[in-house]
Amino acid sequence: MRIAILPTPEDIAVVAADRIQSLLERKPSAVLGLATGSTPLPLYDELTKRYEAGEISFANTQSFNLDEYVGLPEDHPEGYANFIHRFLVDRVDFPKGAAHGPNVWTGDNDQAAANYDKAIRDAGGIDLQILGIGADGHIGFNEPGGSFASRTHVDVLTEQTRRDNARFFDGDITKVPTHCITQGLGTIMESGEALLIATGAGKAEAVRQLVEGAISARWPATILQMHPNAIVLLDEPAAQGLELADFYREVWVKHQA
Ligand code: GLP
Repeated sequence: MRIAILPTPEDIAVVAADRIQSLLERKPSAVLGLATGSTPLPLYDELTKRYEAGEISFANTQSFNLDEYVGLPEDHPEGYANFIHRFLVDRVDFPKGAAHGPNVWTGDNDQAAANYDKAIRDAGGIDLQILGIGADGHIGFNEPGGSFASRTHVDVLTEQTRRDNARFFDGDITKVPTHCITQGLGTIMESGEALLIATGAGKAEAVRQLVEGAISARWPATILQMHPNAIVLLDEPAAQGLELADFYREVWVKHQA
């Protein structure tokens, strides 16, 4: 795992966008894994800016969202398919139908989850997976206690996650769905590169566990310690609990040299 501790979320967005841009230059047909939540929004703004400047194109790219709520109407603005269209897909040049998400509206969510996992495989797998992290250590919506080997599946959200996400639902936890379909940890681990972004002091404990804690289902993101190509981009508040922060800074600088 490589760790960068950067001054601002905008600096993080530039580093993450550089990695995506260089991937798309090498492989225009790359498959991107997209995260929702507020953390990746500066990155999506940066990618949009580069698209508008003619520096990056998604014209041959496909994307797969990490997860989707179960129980929202298909046109709900906080549904993750709609969220990702609003903040990235509709602002750049993805071809029509190239941005995928779990289809939670078929009436058979277990089958939909299996189909989604297969669709990722059929697309050749995810080249670069963008990840946020929940305050309880979840990635995608893989909550504590889930299997490290899990494939895309139906899952239940913790009360903490529903409380954290209530801000997107008029601050009312009762409006936050209780279930989701999420890429499994096993699915996420097959991505060619995992790029996790965490900003703000509210993520400091989850980041401490992710980077320096024991690998444990209690903190699902810790499985990324076993990912051969994982990069963790942090701002100072998110990095404040890291014992070896100075060492990570040194390694990051030497890697850039
Ligand atoms: C959400 C999403 C995750 C996201 C995380 C953090 O519930 N399912 O993919 O990374 O929780 O969200 P935020 O970036 O808003 O803090």
